[in-house]
Amino acid sequence: MSNGNKIKNKKVVFSDFLQKIDDIDFVKEIIDGLSSKQKYIPSKFFYDTRGSGLFDEITKLDEYYPTRTEKSILKTIASHIVLKIKDKDIVELGSGDGSKMQILINAVPRDFLENIQYFPVDYSMESIEKTSEKLSDDFPELKIHGVIADFLSQIDMIPRRSTRLFCFFGSTLGNLTTVMAWEFIKDIRASMQKNDEFLLGIDMVKEKKVMEKAYNDSRHITSAFNKNILNVSNEIAGTNFNTDNFEHLAFFNESESRIEMHLKAKKKLRISSIYLSNDITIEKGETIHTENSHKYTPEFINNLAEICNFKVLDVYTDKNKWFYVVHFAA
Ligand code: AVJ
Repeated sequence: MSNGNKIKNKKVVFSDFLQKIDDIDFVKEIIDGLSSKQKYIPSKFFYDTRGSGLFDEITKLDEYYPTRTEKSILKTIASHIVLKIKDKDIVELGSGDGSKMQILINAVPRDFLENIQYFPVDYSMESIEKTSEKLSDDFPELKIHGVIADFLSQIDMIPRRSTRLFCFFGSTLGNLTTVMAWEFIKDIRASMQKNDEFLLGIDMVKEKKVMEKAYNDSRHITSAFNKNILNVSNEIAGTNFNTDNFEHLAFFNESESRIEMHLKAKKKLRISSIYLSNDITIEKGETIHTENSHKYTPEFINNLAEICNFKVLDVYTDKNKWFYVVHFAA
């Protein structure tokens, strides 16, 4: 295989498309954010090795309901879903630790496994390699093609072998701005062909207390996760943030229907970097916006179907209707 593809063993192949993106683009994204009126750091920068580990801990917290709830839905529907994924490419955008796919694949009869090819797509080479290895160990018959890519901009680079099931779980959609979320879903829709399908996991609006507790856990893991993005900025963009100078802030913004995470400066700070011609001043109490996590309503699903021309095959939820997994067809 050419350009950066390498063969690990018979059934596992990797492609790295991220090497096509310049490091300097990431520097620019961070510097642009810190130079804006409302300072921000794009939330994709949470997930370095430490950040991914902290997120993993978050998913196990009592207060953090989304992962657990989505997995319980997937367990319930797995055998129903996999009837339709025989002989398909499964493309999982933002595959993380692969544990959701594990739930689905578990329900596939063993004889059919070799007809399926799983394409985990994620940002970090480390996570793609780990996830591919793990699923290959658990399901030796499964073909796996790990794709290291920025799925937001590189969805067209993902190889196609057969009809596809796209999976976009974890309410990762909610991290995008409303405009970007629509654009991205339209990109997914555009790359879908006849008989392709799409499974989307989204977190729903619910009692404010429940949502806010999920992002303000008593063990302060979310706080550590939030602050770690400053270390990533230091690493990538050469900034000199000290996490001790910031306070974790997470609240539900009703009018935007989203949890916002910020880092609030405890005192006036000057931030410098070799990539900055002038230092950045942060006033005491000023915030750096680090994440949006949009929460959805059932109407959103109807809008998606109508505007993007999807057929809604099924809508699955839990007993509290806290999380939805929606099954669309092209
Ligand atoms: C991985 C995007 C689903 O928004 O809930 C968890 C990330 N941020 N705690 C979310 C996250 C703070 C998470 N997603």
